[in-house]
Amino acid sequence: MTPEQQQIRDLAREFARNELRPHAEEWDREARFPREVVQALGELGFMGMLIPEEYDGLGLDATSYLLALEQVAWGDASVAVAMSVHNSLPTQMILAQGTAEQKERFLRPMARGEWLGAFSLSEPDAGSDAASLTAQAVRADGGWVLNGAKAWVTNGGMGDVVIAMCRTDTPDDRRGAKGIGAFILRTDAEGYLVGKKEDKMGQRASETVGIAFRDLFVPDGQVLGDPSMGFIYALQGLDNGRMGIAAVALGIAQAALEHAVAYAGERKQFGRPLRDFQGMQFKLADMAVRVEAARALLVQAAAAKDAGEPVTRAASVAKLFCTETAMQVTTQAVQVFGGYGYMKEYPVERLFRDAKVTEIYEGTSEIQRTVIARELYRA
Ligand code: CAA
Repeated sequence: MTPEQQQIRDLAREFARNELRPHAEEWDREARFPREVVQALGELGFMGMLIPEEYDGLGLDATSYLLALEQVAWGDASVAVAMSVHNSLPTQMILAQGTAEQKERFLRPMARGEWLGAFSLSEPDAGSDAASLTAQAVRADGGWVLNGAKAWVTNGGMGDVVIAMCRTDTPDDRRGAKGIGAFILRTDAEGYLVGKKEDKMGQRASETVGIAFRDLFVPDGQVLGDPSMGFIYALQGLDNGRMGIAAVALGIAQAALEHAVAYAGERKQFGRPLRDFQGMQFKLADMAVRVEAARALLVQAAAAKDAGEPVTRAASVAKLFCTETAMQVTTQAVQVFGGYGYMKEYPVERLFRDAKVTEIYEGTSEIQRTVIARELYRA
């Protein structure tokens, strides 16, 4: 790490220790997202980490961003996923494909944390097979009219700006993955409808909602790039997003490891601390090795991104390994705590629940394996 990267990581750790960790249990229990924390993250510059300084961002490298995100997830995974989606998907997509006017209008308030961003690709019947989505955009005078329903949108209700993928081809001329547009929506627009907040197993504080469009008019100025290439932009965005989720998972795993190590030192059975038993030492060592290997893969993907290299494969490798690490390490952490680990009073119970969804959202582990295998043949 460069001194600057170290400084950013330490700042994030400090913030997580003081502002997130003490409240994580309560936010989870109440399933309440602390919107005020987004503002605080914005003041630190953490909602515009990858946005250039000319648009009020910090203009940092991907490595700094992902190491900071890991620390935020160490403090609270629900806050981290909101930060990850915002920094990795809508802002990056606008940066990559947006017009000068779109960058000026949307990136500044997003970089400052005044507007929270979301990304909407999935639908009730289009999850892994995302290109089969059916929400429809129809050409109108000066823009498009959107109708349809989208599913599982992080920040989709409390957020301010959503990039939503909708079909722009016509029923008699279907073009599959090349017949989808990406639309920059304001959540206060007429016809933008928000469903109930999903009641989830983990990351309960993060807001996940279904949204629907009812005759939602989107002016041409809010279409991102080429209106038939939105699916490609979404997959490019997900290359970034998957690194973000890898960092979220890594933060959860690191937190679980630290709790397990501390508990194994305190808890005594058969007259000795748990850590004196070789079976426990092997378990803790295996957890630590997984976490370190996961971090190495994430840093490798981040370095590729910073070097301007293609990251599709590296992002999927990092996402797959970090998220499966989070699940394995939190499972073992619960085991170290034994009966106490199964109780809500102990943080490993929440970390175990928080870990699971990282293997699902922004592409399941099965989709990551599919992407990696395809890239092997492409090489
Ligand atoms: N970058 C750019 N282009 C890409 C790409 C990438 N990473 N991957 C594929 N493409 C291109 C392909 O080259 C192809 O274009 P050509 O025909 O010109 O070659 C086009 O995209 C279509 O690709 P495929 O034929 O491979 O498309 P597919 O329908 O078979 O799907 C898939 C591929 C990998 C399965 C993809 O659908 C996928 O990743 N599915 C998972 C979806 C997902 O991750 N959803 C998460 C939603 S977000 C979320 O979780 C909510 C949240 O808020 C956190």
